[in-house]
Amino acid sequence: MRSLLVGFTLAVMCITAPITTAQKVELTIDASKTGAKIDRNIFGQFAEHLGHGIYDGIWVGSDSKIPNTRGIRNDVVGALKAIKVPNVRWPGGCFADEYHWRKGIGPQRSVTLNPNWGGVTEPNTFGTDEFMDFIDQIGAEAYISVNVGSGTPREAAEWLEYMTAAAPTTLAKERAANGHPAPYKVASVGIGNESWDCGGNMTPDYYVSQMKIYSHFVRNFNPAQQDKQKMLKIAGGPGGDGPRWTDWTETVMKAYQQHTWSWDINGLSMHNYTVPHWPPSYASVGFGETEYGQILKSTLEMEGLISKHSAIMDKYDPDKKVALIVDEWGGWYASLPGSNPGFLVQQNSLRDAIIAALNLNIFARHAERVRGANIAQMINVLQAMIITDKEKMVLTPTYYVFKMYVPFQNATFVPVNFDAGWYTHGAVALPRVDAIAGKDANGKLWLEITNLDPNEPVQIEAGLAGIAAKAASGETLTAPKVDSVNTFDAPNTVRPRPISAEVQGGKLTLKLEPKSVTVVSIEQ
Ligand code: AHR
Repeated sequence: MRSLLVGFTLAVMCITAPITTAQKVELTIDASKTGAKIDRNIFGQFAEHLGHGIYDGIWVGSDSKIPNTRGIRNDVVGALKAIKVPNVRWPGGCFADEYHWRKGIGPQRSVTLNPNWGGVTEPNTFGTDEFMDFIDQIGAEAYISVNVGSGTPREAAEWLEYMTAAAPTTLAKERAANGHPAPYKVASVGIGNESWDCGGNMTPDYYVSQMKIYSHFVRNFNPAQQDKQKMLKIAGGPGGDGPRWTDWTETVMKAYQQHTWSWDINGLSMHNYTVPHWPPSYASVGFGETEYGQILKSTLEMEGLISKHSAIMDKYDPDKKVALIVDEWGGWYASLPGSNPGFLVQQNSLRDAIIAALNLNIFARHAERVRGANIAQMINVLQAMIITDKEKMVLTPTYYVFKMYVPFQNATFVPVNFDAGWYTHGAVALPRVDAIAGKDANGKLWLEITNLDPNEPVQIEAGLAGIAAKAASGETLTAPKVDSVNTFDAPNTVRPRPISAEVQGGKLTLKLEPKSVTVVSIEQ
């Protein structure tokens, strides 16, 4: 932060007396100074029954010509395995507070409506057992959002019993009859979604009374989750930084401070989209440097928001037992012309890759409190990893950032000091670079550096202490334009390529392309 403040002073000077672009940025990294674990759950995904997120994106049905395993697309599973998705939040979103799980199990499924998202019919062919099969195929854990808005504690409790009971209860037997005798693992349960809005328009006090009831009655019976790997209960949290949201966080955390044996929470959700105006009006493709700068400025507001709500949490939970889980984040733009506006279809450009890197870096810097996050949304919706169209699939620039960041999953945070300098365009001033470092389980040091400047390359000189650095290698993601995208016909426009880096006398040097995301590992 101090580096950023120094940079801000420079930017103010820059407005009155423009200075020439500083292209060299010096970093210092002391690998012996480590911080908190960067919880791999910050790389979580969100899959809502919305548009083509589930149907066509994941589920094609077992009689589809698209290669699948029990109805789940093989190409999508393969791609998601490669980014080591830690958890998937499902079934919503706003959808969750209108979801009735019994309609999505067994041989006979009810066809319902999806009033939140285009009013289309919901076949319920992808239900609990299909979701669990999907996350098993990709090697992720389940983050289930239960229905607080239009459901009941009993309905949610029975859903958890269906999923997790090992004893031969009627619900456990029903699960076995549906093909899964063993209990499922449910890593996290979300108690409602945006309960201040689409989840029921509740006041903070009303929500807290509901939260206590759900926390007590929605039990996980899986024997393997009683002592270890206990299910985390995530309370609904804020969706902004105004008094309405700070009041929400205060109310939930104050209640938590006085919680008794009969209820508990382990996390507080927070939602924050990069959407400077509502309704979303920025184009997801076909934009220029001005919109690039404005969106990046907006995405960096994540830092202030996390700091604000973390400070409130610190008052009531100084030991940071309750995690802040940013379980909806990402760029939200105008829907693509010709698409159903209720399906939230947008393109995914190099700008989104940079948004992803900046937000992941913010989460990593707050690793002590931010122990989970879910980008919205995994496939075909908002800032997606993957776009599909019938049998075709393309991986987005955001996907490649998640792939490049795999080494940071559960790495130990290592502080990086630098004076970012500034990139300015019109009224927008942004730090020229951003960077994080982490040490993986094998002690290897990894460094990520983002060059936000879309025009100027940056020469990085990083002093490496606490490590006998011998060599470095890595990958960089960039493209010809800020709005370059991958398409079915040209899937490799935005794709990581090897970057050369040099290490000499404890100093790493490398040149960053404009508008790029780079990850390097340091060999000892
Ligand atoms: O991700 C789309 C929607 O955004 C979610 O359903 C809701 O929780 C949020 O408002």
